[in-house]
Amino acid sequence: MTTSAKHASGVDAPATLAEPPDESQHGFSRRSLLASGVAVGVGAGLASFESAASALATKPASHKLGEGDAAILRFLATAEILETDFWQQYNELGGVQDSEVPGGSGSKRYTEALEVLDEDMPQYIHDNTEDEFTHFTFLNAYLESRGAEAVDLKQFATLSSSKATGAQQIGRLTNLMELTVDTSWWTRYRSSSKNLDLGDSFAQAVPDLAKGSFPAIPRSDTDLAPEDHIQAIANTAGFHFATIEQGGTSLYPSLAQRVNDPEVLRVVLSIGPTEAMHFQTWADKAGNAPSLTDPTNRLEFPDLNVAPFGGEEFQTNLIMPEPTVFLRKSLPIVSIVRPTNTQGIAMGVVEFLTAMGLFKGQSQDFFDALHTLAAEADAAKR
Ligand SMILES: [Fe+2]
Ligand SMILES: [Fe+2]
Repeated sequence: MTTSAKHASGVDAPATLAEPPDESQHGFSRRSLLASGVAVGVGAGLASFESAASALATKPASHKLGEGDAAILRFLATAEILETDFWQQYNELGGVQDSEVPGGSGSKRYTEALEVLDEDMPQYIHDNTEDEFTHFTFLNAYLESRGAEAVDLKQFATLSSSKATGAQQIGRLTNLMELTVDTSWWTRYRSSSKNLDLGDSFAQAVPDLAKGSFPAIPRSDTDLAPEDHIQAIANTAGFHFATIEQGGTSLYPSLAQRVNDPEVLRVVLSIGPTEAMHFQTWADKAGNAPSLTDPTNRLEFPDLNVAPFGGEEFQTNLIMPEPTVFLRKSLPIVSIVRPTNTQGIAMGVVEFLTAMGLFKGQSQDFFDALHTLAAEADAAKR
């Protein structure tokens, strides 16, 4: 029985390969013909298939997005708008302010403290900010190009800016001055036997950051001294960068699993890995944050290379993902993004960002809007 089933499928295989295109491909061909018909009619005569195909490739998709796909893209646009809002704040004070990422004039002392992690930090902050700006701008434009509503959170930009010299005085969506930073991604990506998707938990790299409430940008020029205080603020930013970008690294593959339209899948799969590129860079830089204790609030950045830290779980030059268990512990370990569970991921991200303190001071209307966008994305089905 088994053998004959195998045999039957073996016989089937070549036939399947030789089959004519399926219905959707038929549909596509019909549309290509219609699209190229006009060109042929105006005298191109022997318009090549290539030119018809390339005309089609530059033509925006005209069919309207399904509700689920639109909700997923809207939630992603929301996350990207929020990311852009705080990356912009980092760039104004510690990045490169130029025509690509305008706004602010820099804080010399804060920028120097960031450069202790890597002399290229201002450039990386600038580039990450620019990337986020293009992420939400593209997603919103794409939504509209497919007949769906874009996301606009401007009415919620009511939070105060830093009073430090270099920051613009404008309303913000996010608050970088009272953060509680979860640094468990550090050990989560170094474990070879645990996975958050399988219910495991992970130690913090900087335990204090997960408990208190700390600024990641100077709140005013008073924060620029003493030296270990402004360095602790820059260190907090350094870890926060990776905490955020590992979130994006998980968010895209988690939502991709419930996308229906192939082009929407392409959008999600093409943006998602850039979050991983950011995460990898920031994970490397966070390892350069000097160990110190902030004299103003006792926030401690431990030396991650010595006991009780150190070893596979903490050593700072181990920046690549360690292969670990995935799906089922009976399967071999594999190097993967983690977590990628799709159930409730959007609301999970909202809770993660809220617990981080990123929205401290925001209105109930803001949280209501955010929860609605997340609930709609989580309701999307394949
Ligand atoms: Fe992004
Ligand atoms: Fe990002």
